[in-house]
Amino acid sequence: MEKLQKIGDRIYWKCVNDRRKALFENMWPLPYGVSYNSYLIRDEKCALMDTVEAGSDRGYADWVDQVLEGRPLDYLVVHHMELDHSGEIVELLHRHPEMKIVGNQKTFKVLGAYFGCNDRLMEVKDGETLSLGHHTLKFVFTPWVHWPETMMSYDLTEGVLFTGDAFGMFGALDGGRFDDQVEFAPHYETEMRRYYSNIVGKYSAMVQKALEKLSGVEVATICPLHGLVWRHNPSQVIGLYDRWSRYEAEAGVTIIYASMYDNTARMADYIACGLADRGVRKIRVHDISKTHLSYLLNDLWLYRGVMLGSCAYNMQMFPLMENLTRELEHIGLKNRYLGLFGTFSWNGGGVKNLNAFSERIGWESVAAAAEIHGVPHAEKRASCDLLVESMAARLLQA
Ligand SMILES: Cc1cc2nc3c(=O)[nH]c(=O)nc-3n(C[C@H](O)[C@H](O)[C@H](O)COP(=O)(O)O)c2cc1C
Ligand SMILES: [Fe+2]
Ligand SMILES: [Fe+2]
Repeated sequence: MEKLQKIGDRIYWKCVNDRRKALFENMWPLPYGVSYNSYLIRDEKCALMDTVEAGSDRGYADWVDQVLEGRPLDYLVVHHMELDHSGEIVELLHRHPEMKIVGNQKTFKVLGAYFGCNDRLMEVKDGETLSLGHHTLKFVFTPWVHWPETMMSYDLTEGVLFTGDAFGMFGALDGGRFDDQVEFAPHYETEMRRYYSNIVGKYSAMVQKALEKLSGVEVATICPLHGLVWRHNPSQVIGLYDRWSRYEAEAGVTIIYASMYDNTARMADYIACGLADRGVRKIRVHDISKTHLSYLLNDLWLYRGVMLGSCAYNMQMFPLMENLTRELEHIGLKNRYLGLFGTFSWNGGGVKNLNAFSERIGWESVAAAAEIHGVPHAEKRASCDLLVESMAARLLQA
């Protein structure tokens, strides 16, 4: 029998730490693992809030039984249908013949496609309530944070907000489970921003809509599907989401370069040192061939300044840089200052295509791109100096 973790009197919480999985969505690195949260409200009626990834914990369904102590499980509320939370649905349907799945019309379309469930469904509308006895849940639709059918449940009785993936994070929970039990920064904050920038950031406008919708709601506790539960200071994490979804950023610079033989890399280092000499204190330099997109996006979300450098490669920019620029357009990151640089041997191609990217993304360009033929010797660096001065001035004036 495992020791049960509770939130308040009647809400039970199962946190599955998964340190084995290497890549979230088979793409995003998990050096510190990830956790899946599931909550069970044991009231006159019993309601489970989402499940966990299939196979992530062999004892999950037994935990549900342990909490229920022989009582029926009346509801499973599905806040979004991604498989990292819906993995145990079939097992639960089997074990609990009385259980109804609570979701919205769009939830059920996806549910049917994955598990073929077409009955035992209870459709709810935006703003509708469901009484469990002591607790009453209100369903708040927050579409596209980050799936179309996403909704949250707000417990009117105790102010507990079940938020789905919103306010979640990468990284398993290393002991502390609640916000007041851990040092949030830098570790958990970084993993939360990485999750935001990698998974949710594309839908920032919808995050803003969701926050607006929740603005009048008094939230005592935030229960996300990944990571810490916020019982002490939920406004801290609401503030972070507000900031990130407005594309607000710090006065720092992310420098990302693509280089085969280090000429473009030397420009990156020269630019970084120049920025530091002019008083910019927050600078990160990344070799795009070494650092995964996940971490690049994390820094790009943090700092207002962006410097991208590429060697020319078959009349184009370096393929990995092209991938990054395409991803940035796709995600729609906004409000950044941009500086570009690169080297070439023949007719170029790197900087030319970076300039085309600059036109498309529409960020404020701080100065003309610095493009150098061959080795970036000292006498060829005037354009770099101008870039550095302009970027530093733009950042530090704010
Ligand atoms: C596979 C390959 C393709 C290249 N394509 C171009 C090109 O299309 N245009 C150009 O001007 N130089 C091209 N170059 C030359 C490099 O862009 C040039 O040497 C550059 O300075 C290398 O920068 P790096 O030292 O940062 O890798 C190419 C080099 C290689 C190895
Ligand atoms: Fe998700
Ligand atoms: Fe998730």
